[in-house]
Amino acid sequence: MLSKVKSCGLLGIDGYIVEVETDISNGMPGFEIVGLPDSAIRESKERVRSAIKNSSLEFPLKRITVNLAPANTKKEGAGFDLPIAVSILHATDQFKCMDLEEYIFIGELSLNGEIKPVSGMLPMAITAYKEGIRKIILSVENAEEAAVVRGLEVYPAVFLSDVVGHLNGERPIQTYFKDIEELFESYSLYEEDFADVKGQYNVKRALEVAAAGGHNALMIGSPGSGKTMIARRLPTILPRMSFDEALEVTKVHSVAGLLPSKTSLITSRPFRTPHHSISRVSLVGGGRIPKPGEISLAHYGVLFLDELLEFQKDALEVMRQPLEDGVVTISRVNATLTYPARCMLIASLNPCKCGYYPSEECTCNPNQVKQYLNKLSGPLLDRIDIHVEVSPVKYKDLENEAVGESSKNIRDRVNRARQIQLERYRDLGIFCNSQMGPKYIVKFCKLGQEEKTILKGAFEKLGLSARAHNRILKLARTIADLDGSEDIKSRHLAEAIQYRSLDRKFWN
Ligand SMILES: Nc1ncnc2c1ncn2[C@@H]1O[C@H](COP(=O)(O)OP(=O)(O)O)[C@@H](O)[C@H]1O
Ligand SMILES: [Mg+2]
Ligand SMILES: [Zn+2]
Repeated sequence: MLSKVKSCGLLGIDGYIVEVETDISNGMPGFEIVGLPDSAIRESKERVRSAIKNSSLEFPLKRITVNLAPANTKKEGAGFDLPIAVSILHATDQFKCMDLEEYIFIGELSLNGEIKPVSGMLPMAITAYKEGIRKIILSVENAEEAAVVRGLEVYPAVFLSDVVGHLNGERPIQTYFKDIEELFESYSLYEEDFADVKGQYNVKRALEVAAAGGHNALMIGSPGSGKTMIARRLPTILPRMSFDEALEVTKVHSVAGLLPSKTSLITSRPFRTPHHSISRVSLVGGGRIPKPGEISLAHYGVLFLDELLEFQKDALEVMRQPLEDGVVTISRVNATLTYPARCMLIASLNPCKCGYYPSEECTCNPNQVKQYLNKLSGPLLDRIDIHVEVSPVKYKDLENEAVGESSKNIRDRVNRARQIQLERYRDLGIFCNSQMGPKYIVKFCKLGQEEKTILKGAFEKLGLSARAHNRILKLARTIADLDGSEDIKSRHLAEAIQYRSLDRKFWN
C-alpha cells in the first residue's frame, strides 16, 4: 500500500514542502530511502527503525521504499524522521486517520521513539501555513516557535506513540496556543539604556545621527573610554521592530539553531559582537551545511566589530557586498541561498597601536600612528559614514549623579527623522539617507550659496578627500531631518564635517 504525508525542508531562511511517499511491497525485506543525502539516509533509517520498534509498534518485515519529493532538492536536517515513521505506520495500517493529508509532520526521532526539536521551525511553519496546511505535529520544544503562525493548529507530541494515538482519535493531543501579536504589543524592553552613559555627549549625538539615517559608524578611542558600552545601547534608540521584522529576525535565528528555548519571537533588535578571530564563513555565512553568519544574525539590528583592525582582512572584505545589498548570497551545487543581512555596522578602533594617542601616555611615534590607521581597508571604510572620536570619560561627568537622557527620548527623535525619510523616499525603493546613491544626493541634498562656501572651505582647509564629499552631504541631510529642517543649513553641514575625522587627519 502507498502512503503520502507532508513535511518541510529548508532553503536559506525559507521552507519548502516535501512529500514523503512510502510504498510497501512483498519481497525481500529491505528499507530504502531516496531523495536524501547518503549520510543523512543512513542515520535516519536507524532512528526510524528503532523508534518504531521501541514504541510498541511494528516495523514491517517487507520491502519499504520511501521517496522524499521533490527529489532534486538537497534536503538537510533530521526533521524527516517523524514523517517517514508516520508514513510507514500508515502504509502498514497501524492506525486509521481520515484527515491525514491536512497535517504536516516535522521532527527528529530518538531511538526510544521520543520526538526531538529541529532548527528552522518558524520558517517551515510559515511555509506550511502559506501552502494551505492548518495542522502541524512536532516536538514539544518546537511548539513555541510554530505557535507564532496565527491560524496554524500546533500539536506538540512527546513520543511517536502519542502521534499515533492522536491520529487514531484515541488520545487527542491538546493544541498549543499563544497570542503572539498581543505578546509582541506588550513588549519593548532592553536591559541597557543610554541614560547609563555619563557625559560623552558628542558620541551619543553621533550615534543618534547614525540611528536616524541608518549610517554605519566607527568609534575611535582608547581602551576603557566606553566604546563597547555605548555601542551596546545603539539598538535601544533604533525604531521599534515591526511584527514582520521580528518574524524575519526570528526566522534567521531559528534556521541558525540559535533561538533561545521558550522564545517564540525575538522582539528586540539583535546586537551581535563577534570576536576578531572569527572566520569569514562565520561572519558572512555558508559552510558545508549552510548557516547564516553574524552579519545575518544582526539583521535589523547592530553588528559591532570591536577592535576592527584585529579582524582578518579577507573576512572584512567579504562583508562589503552584503553591507551594500542587505543580503548574503551563497552558491551551492544545485541552488543559491540568500540570507538577509540588513544591519547597521558599528566598529571600534584604538587610535594607535598602544591605544592611547593623542594623550601623553601614548608611546607611539607619529609615523607609527599614521601607519596603524592606514591598515584600515579602504573599501570597507567606504561603507562607514560616521567617524567619532571617543575621549576617556571626564571625571566630573562620572561623578555627576544626574542621569543622562533616556534611550526613549532619543528614539523619539530618531523616529521622527525616519518618518521624514520614509515620506521622502516613498516609491523610490530606499528608506533612509544612508542608502542614497549619487543621483538622489544631487536631488535631495541641495546646498545654498553660504553652505557651498562652507563646504568648499572645509575641503581646502582640512584637506578632505573626494570620498568625504557625498558622505558629508548624506550626513548633513540626516542632521537636517533630525532638526525637522527641509533645507540643509550651515550648522547641519558643520556637524556633518566633524564626522569625517579620518579623512581629515590620517587618511590620504
Ligand atoms: N561614559 C561612561 N559612563 C559610565 N560608565 C562608563 C563610561 N565610560 C566607561 N564606563 C565604564 O567603563 C567600563 C569600560 O568601558 P568599555 O565600554 O568596555 O570601554 P572600551 O570598549 O572603550 O574599552 C564600562 O563597562 C563602564 O562601566
Ligand atoms: Mg571595548
Ligand atoms: Zn600609541
